[in-house]
Amino acid sequence: MSKKIAIIGGGNLGAAIAEGLLHSGFIKASDIIVTRRNIQPLDYLKQKGVHTTSNNIDAVEFADYIILALKPFQVKDVLAEVKGALDSQRHILISVVTGFWMKEIDEVVSQELPVFRAMPNTAIAIRESITCICHQHASEEQKQFVSELFNQLGLSVMIEEKLMDAATVLGACGTAYAMRYIRANIQGGIEIGFDVKTASLIAAQTVKGAAQLLLSHQTHPEQEIDKVTTPKGCTIAGLNEMEHQGFSSSLIKGITVSYKKIVNDM
Ligand SMILES: NC(=O)c1ccc[n+]([C@@H]2O[C@H](COP(=O)([O-])OP(=O)(O)OC[C@H]3O[C@@H](n4cnc5c(N)ncnc54)[C@H](OP(=O)(O)O)[C@@H]3O)[C@@H](O)[C@H]2O)c1
Repeated sequence: MSKKIAIIGGGNLGAAIAEGLLHSGFIKASDIIVTRRNIQPLDYLKQKGVHTTSNNIDAVEFADYIILALKPFQVKDVLAEVKGALDSQRHILISVVTGFWMKEIDEVVSQELPVFRAMPNTAIAIRESITCICHQHASEEQKQFVSELFNQLGLSVMIEEKLMDAATVLGACGTAYAMRYIRANIQGGIEIGFDVKTASLIAAQTVKGAAQLLLSHQTHPEQEIDKVTTPKGCTIAGLNEMEHQGFSSSLIKGITVSYKKIVNDM
């Protein structure tokens, strides 16, 4: 039996998940239903054969896997609305909502459903996310299905729920940190002679290639650095100057400040 997926909250993330799953061929358009209160922005998905509705209960009754892609303040109301239609023998909940814990979901739905939390990043729009996933009450088959689902949208990794805030910082805020790194490269590139367009292309593709080297070779960054640092050369001179100026230290401090902020604010 093919699985059916409901995406409750077809905003930026929900719609990107629907599009990515369609594009990958993981699921037929007619096996996906997407909801939001104003469904008109979902017309482009409807034209591809995806069901769209503003009725969350209809969506729950249609699907086996239910992806919650709402803003944190909207989750409790929507879960309370659909709770009567949820069946622990059939439904699996996947929440991509930041900072909403699985025990909170349990409390609102008042039954023991298989629940997953997933933390993707904005590269999910181009199917290049890293998605950190945790789970409770889930079977091996359900874990495999959810991993495969997010692997269509990049890569995924299973973690413990206590690391979800850390995953938000490293994986989701990480996109912004990487953008700043690229922006600084562009600024430096302009100073040494490139126009902004050429500097941007060189900086972005260089970072993409560097990341791809690590993923392909499964190496530590320092091993790849050793390959490009000639003794007395320009690379090591530049790298050491960056470290004297606090490069690694400022990144680590930034990550820990983001983490403290997320933990203290939630
Ligand atoms: N964007 C990311 O890359 C990203 C990454 C990781 C996690 N997240 C998390 O994902 C969640 C969604 O983020 P987002 O950026 O996609 O937000 P968003 O664009 O605001 O999407 C939320 C959607 O929920 C819909 N909605 C609101 N109330 C509803 C209801 N009662 N029934 C059905 N749909 C309803 C809204 O549409 P209507 O107003 O038309 O109903 C809206 O389209 C957030 O919790 C965020 O923290 C996002």
